[in-house]
Amino acid sequence: MKAQSTAEMVGSRPSSRISNASSTPETSQSPNPALELCGLSKSFTLGGGLFKRGRTLGAVNDVSLRIPRGQVMGLVGESGCGKSTLAKMLLGLTSPTEGDVLVDGEPLRGADQKALARHIQPIFQDPYSSLNPRKRIAQIVGLPLRVHGIGTAREQATRVAETLDVVGLPRRAAEQFPGQLSGGQRQRVAIARALIMRPDIVICDEPTSALDVSVQAQILNLLLDLKTEFGLTYLFISHDLAVVEHLVDRVAVMYLGRIVEEGSREQIFSAPRHPYTQALLDSALTPEPGLGVPDIGLGDAMPDPSNPPSGCAFHPRCPKAQAICQQTRPRLEEFRGGNARVACHLA
Ligand SMILES: Nc1ncnc2c1ncn2[C@@H]1O[C@H](COP(=O)(O)OP(=O)(O)O)[C@@H](O)[C@H]1O
Ligand SMILES: [Mg+2]
Repeated sequence: MKAQSTAEMVGSRPSSRISNASSTPETSQSPNPALELCGLSKSFTLGGGLFKRGRTLGAVNDVSLRIPRGQVMGLVGESGCGKSTLAKMLLGLTSPTEGDVLVDGEPLRGADQKALARHIQPIFQDPYSSLNPRKRIAQIVGLPLRVHGIGTAREQATRVAETLDVVGLPRRAAEQFPGQLSGGQRQRVAIARALIMRPDIVICDEPTSALDVSVQAQILNLLLDLKTEFGLTYLFISHDLAVVEHLVDRVAVMYLGRIVEEGSREQIFSAPRHPYTQALLDSALTPEPGLGVPDIGLGDAMPDPSNPPSGCAFHPRCPKAQAICQQTRPRLEEFRGGNARVACHLA
């Protein structure tokens, strides 16, 4: 594999094109949103057999979102609402049943996985399971460079050391194993591994949910600093609205695979329109936010996504539900001059 020059490694980002990795960089001039989801759906077939049709579970249903370059979109909803399935589609780890993902205006469908990895990188919840316990930190963080044949061994080592600095890990961590690090340090390793390819988009799927509350804040601050330093675009997934409050520009609220409300941080936190957003917000105001899945005070648990309620899927738990909510599914309608959307008959 041909090694790239040091200047190319250290100087600029890779090209913003996922289909052609060798075109010129044009990251800042692009008029396209960094990430656009167009009517994205994913369903799974459960059970079934030779003579029996399986049931269909709609994990993600008709989700459309635009994330402008350099912005942070929060994606919030209870466990099981489809957040990770959405994330996997954005990372090319599973293909949509319907709809498209556009990365800087280009369809992800059929894109080269290696080229894509230079643009979009994940940070997952559990650094315990996502880091190989038998590899040293330097090997773990440097692996993407080796896979992509970027730089000489020496250049790779330099970039690993620089990246460990950037995420606030001591240089000696390079020679350690994941088991020798704390949970917060392990999450820093996962962040370093994501950043070493200089991606422009990072998909954070509950990156602090497995950490102690005190450590959560440090990691959130680090992610915020890195966003500014590298001009990153984030999709930041959490089951807890309180976690995203100080990080996001906009928030999308998901219920049973659908976006039920989307708007600016200010609108979602100070004037939420959907009763579900209001319930999530109430639960986020509990004394110790961030501890586990919030009890959103709505009684019944979330319905079975393979057997969703009629009409508005939220109606069985909604304190304001009327007859129409049982019969007709509300459309996601724009308000605030198109700057916010909500799907509720009563909003
Ligand atoms: N591979 C799969 N096969 C069948 N069902 C799945 C699969 N992955 C996820 N699901 C189901 O899709 C729904 C959404 O899951 P997930 O995306 O993990 O939600 P979240 O990340 O919001 O907790 C859940 O009901 C889950 O059981
Ligand atoms: Mg998840």
